[in-house]
Amino acid sequence: MKINENFLKLQSSYLFSTIAKKVKEYSDSNPNAQIIRLGIGDVTRPLPQASIDAMHKAVDEMGNESTFRGYPPEHGMDFILEKIREYDFTSRGIDIDVDEIFLSDGAKSDTGNIGDIFSVDNVVAVCDPIYPVYVDTNVMAGRAGDVLPSGRWSKFVYLNCTAENDFLPELPTEKVDLIYLCFPNNPTGMAASKQELKKWVDYANKNGSVILYDAAYEAFISQDDLPRSIFEIEGAKTCAIEFRSFSKTAGFTGVRCAYTVIPKELMCGDVSLNNLWARRQATKFNGVSYITQRAAEAIYSEQGMAQVKQNIDYYRNNAKVISDGLKDAGFTVWGAVNSPYAWFKVPDGMTSWDFFDVLLEKTQVVGTPGSGFGPAGEGFFRLTGFGSAEKTLEAVERIKNAKF
Ligand code: MLT
Repeated sequence: MKINENFLKLQSSYLFSTIAKKVKEYSDSNPNAQIIRLGIGDVTRPLPQASIDAMHKAVDEMGNESTFRGYPPEHGMDFILEKIREYDFTSRGIDIDVDEIFLSDGAKSDTGNIGDIFSVDNVVAVCDPIYPVYVDTNVMAGRAGDVLPSGRWSKFVYLNCTAENDFLPELPTEKVDLIYLCFPNNPTGMAASKQELKKWVDYANKNGSVILYDAAYEAFISQDDLPRSIFEIEGAKTCAIEFRSFSKTAGFTGVRCAYTVIPKELMCGDVSLNNLWARRQATKFNGVSYITQRAAEAIYSEQGMAQVKQNIDYYRNNAKVISDGLKDAGFTVWGAVNSPYAWFKVPDGMTSWDFFDVLLEKTQVVGTPGSGFGPAGEGFFRLTGFGSAEKTLEAVERIKNAKF
C-alpha cells in the first residue's frame, strides 16, 4: 500500500484548526477569560424564520409515507434550481439554464473538488493572500510542486495582493491554466469592479484559462455598481466557473448548501466542463437533503429575502463597527464595506502570529493571522463581522483601550 504522498507536503494542521487549538489552550489556562471569537468566518445569527418553517414542513413530509422522499437528484431539485436561476441570475440580466447549476453541500467542498476535472499538469495561479482551501487542495492533487523557504509553492504562479495594489491582483505575465479569484475577497474583504473582472475574463479567453470564481460573499456587496456574479461580465461564460454559498448569505454554515455554475459554453477542446462535473458529481455526490433544499428555497420568498437582508445588514454593521474602531485605534484598515471581513496592518515589528498572541493575551479577542492565508498576508490580520453586535462592540472597546 502506498499513500498519496502529496498530503505529507501539507502543513500538519488546517489554519482554523490551529487557531481553535491555540484558543482552547489559552482558555484552559485562563478559565475566567471572556473570550470573543472573531476569527473563523462563522455566522452567529439564527436561521431565517422562512427557512425554519420550510424545514419543519419538509420534516413532516419525510415522516409521512405518501410524501416521503429518498435520494434527491444529485444536481438539485427543480424547485430550488429555478429559484436560483430567477433570483440570482435572471434578475441581474444573466441567462443561466437550470442544468448549468449544481447544488452541493458547500463552496468549500466544490472549490476543493473542482480540481478532479482538471489535469495535474495545469499551471495554477493563486492570489497571495488567499483562502487556504484553493492551495491545499492543489497540493493534495500534486499541482503545487514543493514548498519553498518563502512558504510559497514551486509550481504555482502567485498573484500578489498588497497594500500597494489595494489587494487587487495584477494579471500574470505568463500563461496560466487555472486562476482562483474570490470577490468580495476572503481574507482582505476587497471587492472587484466590472472593469477589474473584465480584465481577467479577457485574459482567460485569450489564453484558454479557466477562472474559478468564488462568490461566496456576494450578498455583502453594498455598492450597487459592483458585479455580484462573474457572469455579469461579457465573455465569462466561455472561461469561468462560479461558486456560490448559502453559508454566509443565509446562515447555513451548519446546514450546508451551496451551488456551482458551469456554463455549457465552457469547453476544453471539444469536451464540456459542465458534462465532466455532472459526471463527477453523479459518481461522488448523492445530493443535498430534501429538507435543506426546502430551507434554501425559502430564502427566495418575500419573507425570506427580508430576513436574509436583516442578517446581512447586521453583520455588515458589525464589520463597520470593527473597521471604524480599528481606525480610531490607529490601524490602517481595508475591506469591511462590501464584506464581513476587516483586514488591517499589525503594529510595526510584529508578525501576524505575534499579534494573534498579543491580542488574545491583552484583549481576549480571537482573530485570524494574515500569514495563515499565505506569505504575502504576513504583517496583516483579519477580524470578522459575524459575531454578535454586543460582543463586537465589546471587542472593539477592548482593542481601543489596549496598548500594542
Ligand atoms: C473563513 O473564516 O475564512 C471561513 O470560515 C472559511 C470558510 O468559509 O470555510
